[in-house]
Amino acid sequence: MDKLIIRGQTPLKGEVTVSGAKNAALGVLPAALLIRGVCTLENVPDILDIDRMKQIMGTLGALFVSVDRDTLQVDTTGVSAFLSTGDDMHRLRASYYLMGALLGRFHEAVITFPGGCDFGNRPIDLHIKGFEALGASVSVDHGCIHLKADKLVGAPIYLDVVSVGATINIMLAAVYAEGVTTIENAAKEPHIVDIATFLNALGADVKGAGTDTIKIRGVRELIGGITHSIIPDQIEAGTFMVAAAATHGDVLVKNVIPKHMESLTAKLLEMNVPVEELDDSIHIHPGTGPLTKANIKTLPYPGFPTDLQPPVAVLLMQAKGVSTITEGIWDNRFKYLEELRKMGADVQVNGRTAMIDGGKPLSGCSIQALDLRAGAACVLAGLVAEGETEITNVQYIDRGYENLVEKLQALGADIRRETGCFPESSQ
Ligand code: UD1
Repeated sequence: MDKLIIRGQTPLKGEVTVSGAKNAALGVLPAALLIRGVCTLENVPDILDIDRMKQIMGTLGALFVSVDRDTLQVDTTGVSAFLSTGDDMHRLRASYYLMGALLGRFHEAVITFPGGCDFGNRPIDLHIKGFEALGASVSVDHGCIHLKADKLVGAPIYLDVVSVGATINIMLAAVYAEGVTTIENAAKEPHIVDIATFLNALGADVKGAGTDTIKIRGVRELIGGITHSIIPDQIEAGTFMVAAAATHGDVLVKNVIPKHMESLTAKLLEMNVPVEELDDSIHIHPGTGPLTKANIKTLPYPGFPTDLQPPVAVLLMQAKGVSTITEGIWDNRFKYLEELRKMGADVQVNGRTAMIDGGKPLSGCSIQALDLRAGAACVLAGLVAEGETEITNVQYIDRGYENLVEKLQALGADIRRETGCFPESSQ
């Protein structure tokens, strides 16, 4: 297992280019299973989760050709299987999109339960409810979910909870369903719009993505031969914006859609961080005064993203006074604060609220990444801490950040990766 070594307290300076969005690419790839043909995807991030998705789709018969560093050709001509039960399914949350895509294309899917980061309870009841509404029968056997439908028929579906995964999965299953499917209380995240754009380019009829009502009129056929460019990663962009602010740096974050960053930009401005929005980049300037404390509540888009909650906690630790974070999506997403306590963070957690008494120095020590975004928080803590920080469980960070070490080094950070055989920490 590799580890990261960081010597902190160097302000980040320079330019960084954000990669394609992990969660968009993880939906677009399985969506390609809906066609029998070839499509080209640009701006695909080179990260572990994408490798795992390719691996899973490869076992179904999909072929992949890397055209260049971030362009991928996907050929689903040879896909005839609807059964995906390999080990990688457990390692990837987005493997649940195989349900919607395979059900849509073959009217049948057998998959193992999805994995992903552990934030407490992660049910898939709304996905199942949606598939059933379209006419599928659902059973669970020996750890596998079996979906089957003689035919899929469009239906009105109301999501009791705003769910990104259920919204996308129902879109995938409904593109070939007879008639119209309406998803009410749909999630509005930028990657939902990206996946709908991809489906429409293939010939689907999806309207309203990005609002809370999505209408999908079923079509008889989707056709490949298209090129689609994945949107920039909102969470990676936010991680660099927060890293720049936390180190009192001066960083131009490029390949960004500023609209996607509005909730973070507003919070940074409130905290006294100068943020300049440009056409497709955001410049974080060094502030002239101290950071001010703030209260943050995570919410579905366009609210503050839960996936930026761990990185932004490190920023709040730099602001004098008590800040609060209220986690509005997941019931157990503060475990990483235990790691940051070892560095001197003064935090108290009460249910879904964390109180951060900031303005106290962090000091480097050995900590572990507990999941992907928790890992990003560890890296940011290392960047601001006195002395040396060692981070283990780097594989979690590799799941979602392309070349994080190289990008931070280019911004002047003293960070390196040690490749070797370190004991995997238990958790
Ligand atoms: C996706 C993201 C994840 C992000 C999350 C919220 C991917 C691969 N992962 O996860 O990084 O943190 O959105 O922005 O894109 N829920 C139910 N029943 C369901 C499904 C969800 O009750 O069937 C609840 C969940 O417990 C949670 C809320 O809905 O409280 C939101 O979950 P959801 O948006 O579905 O998250 P994911 O799609 O798993």
